[in-house]
Amino acid sequence: MTTIGNGSGPRELAGKRALVTGGTRGIGAAVVRQFLDAGAEVLTTARSATSTVPDGASFVAADVRTRAGTEALAAAAQEVLGGVDVLVHNAGGARPHADSSAITDEEWQDALDLNYLASVRLDALLLPGMRDRRAGTIVHVSSAAVLTPVGPFLHYTAAKAALENYSRGLALELAPLGIRVNAVSPGRTATPGGEATREQWASLSVAPAETNAGDTTPLGRDGRPGDIADAVLFLASDRASWLTGRNLIVDGGEFPMG
Ligand SMILES: NC(=O)c1ccc[n+]([C@@H]2O[C@H](COP(=O)([O-])OP(=O)(O)OC[C@H]3O[C@@H](n4cnc5c(N)ncnc54)[C@H](OP(=O)(O)O)[C@@H]3O)[C@@H](O)[C@H]2O)c1
Repeated sequence: MTTIGNGSGPRELAGKRALVTGGTRGIGAAVVRQFLDAGAEVLTTARSATSTVPDGASFVAADVRTRAGTEALAAAAQEVLGGVDVLVHNAGGARPHADSSAITDEEWQDALDLNYLASVRLDALLLPGMRDRRAGTIVHVSSAAVLTPVGPFLHYTAAKAALENYSRGLALELAPLGIRVNAVSPGRTATPGGEATREQWASLSVAPAETNAGDTTPLGRDGRPGDIADAVLFLASDRASWLTGRNLIVDGGEFPMG
């Protein structure tokens, strides 16, 4: 199967087989497009196939919140790509509530499954191949919101905080094998999921004073999906060959450092 893109950028991922979760819109779709342009063969996933899968990428429907979903995805990666050199955990999100007491047990579990355990499970399934080859790189997409956790979104930020801690520990464990693991933490980025979340939040009586990143971001605008994809591509490429265990915050300068 040939899934090489037609872009004109540097072919920094030429010959690499990449799996990107949540690649049908927003940040994930931008990552898929940039990876294709960089010469990678790309498989992506979402719960449902849409016409928005970037041209040139392979697609398999899977719900990464479930063990069955991650197992089906790992099997598809083996079948379609023959293995994975670059793994990007991008699918994520959660619905905000009025305060933390309104977050149900089911929603806590759902947030953990989507934003944290999906990565743990999929890494466990795909790492044996990377270990055998003593090569590979993983990028976990977290959130700059971890730096300022608030009640309405605690299920989300707590899950992402766990992801960051896990990402760092995995990086240290795998560094001797030459496998690099990093995280990217976006600030407020203009995506369908991000906009929907902010609309839900704004409709709550405890909505934060500012909901428009352009008002507060030193660089004066919301992030674009490509801004985040640039960071993911950098970390996935050999340009970041001396970078592991780090969390790159891409937020227009908005958040205080952790
Ligand atoms: N946008 C922001 O402001 C922002 C800020 C900080 C962090 N982030 C993080 O950046 C990542 C991408 O966010 P985004 O704003 O681009 O999201 P988005 O616009 O909602 O897109 C999410 C993508 O993930 C897929 N997806 C969602 N749930 C899934 C599941 N259970 N299994 C498989 N695929 C699933 C979606 O497709 P289906 O719905 O069809 O499954 C879609 O392709 C997330 O991890 C998010 O937490 C975003």
